[in-house]
Amino acid sequence: MLKIEALVSGYAHLEILHSINLKVEKGEIVSVLGSNGAGKSTLLRTISGILKPWKGTITFEGKLLNDLDPIQIVKHGVVQVPEGRHIFPGLTVKENLLLAGYKFGKIELSERYDSVYTMFPVLKEREKQLGGTLSGGEQQMLALARGLMPKPTLLLLDEPSLGLAPKLVTLIFKTLERFRDEGLTILLVEQNAKRALEISNRAYILATGYLALEGNSSDLISDQNVKRLYLGR
Ligand SMILES: Nc1ncnc2c1ncn2[C@@H]1O[C@H](COP(=O)(O)OP(=O)(O)O)[C@@H](O)[C@H]1O
Ligand SMILES: [Mg+2]
Repeated sequence: MLKIEALVSGYAHLEILHSINLKVEKGEIVSVLGSNGAGKSTLLRTISGILKPWKGTITFEGKLLNDLDPIQIVKHGVVQVPEGRHIFPGLTVKENLLLAGYKFGKIELSERYDSVYTMFPVLKEREKQLGGTLSGGEQQMLALARGLMPKPTLLLLDEPSLGLAPKLVTLIFKTLERFRDEGLTILLVEQNAKRALEISNRAYILATGYLALEGNSSDLISDQNVKRLYLGR
């Protein structure tokens, strides 16, 4: 579904990602793990078109994404939920969703609300509440719900568990498994390696812009080096 070959990317003259190869198959959750500064967000920003690839190719369902702008990439079904939620605190829950579903007409839009509210009933209850008054966990749900509004086929998630209490982390990861059950494909960036490995099919480990390791999540979770370096035991 998504195929990245020999990807080089960075900021201004600073090369951050060095020849990354990665693929995501339909229906998978694929994790990208690595410590702070490894280049995980840079990778997602390059896939979603915020950053332009310097070299290499990003292909989604056979189509080259390299030269498309972020809006065109969303139209192809690739939607990023950025790190740090970025919801609009002064807008209501419903208005936050509306902004993410702007491309739809009235009838389709109401279908999108229904679909998103089925996934997150708590957001329906809080439809008229201002985004900024939601709890941290609810704000993360709103961020995920916004990601669903454009009807993605591939969701790019940047650290959805960051800053949440353990119970909410569990809830968010359960939600991601439900997304997969409903047919969504997910590329999940996480520092919470253990939780990410537990729900993902495969994983890649990034270290200072290089791919250090890749494999089935079930193999990586029991790998001695992965345990020592990334799972803290
Ligand atoms: N806007 C930016 N301009 C310049 N360098 C950046 C920018 N954003 C991130 N970087 C650098 O790119 C590297 C990778 O960052 P990032 O992709 O955010 O890592 P991660 O998401 O894995 O924590 C870091 O060295 C960081 O300092
Ligand atoms: Mg990051």
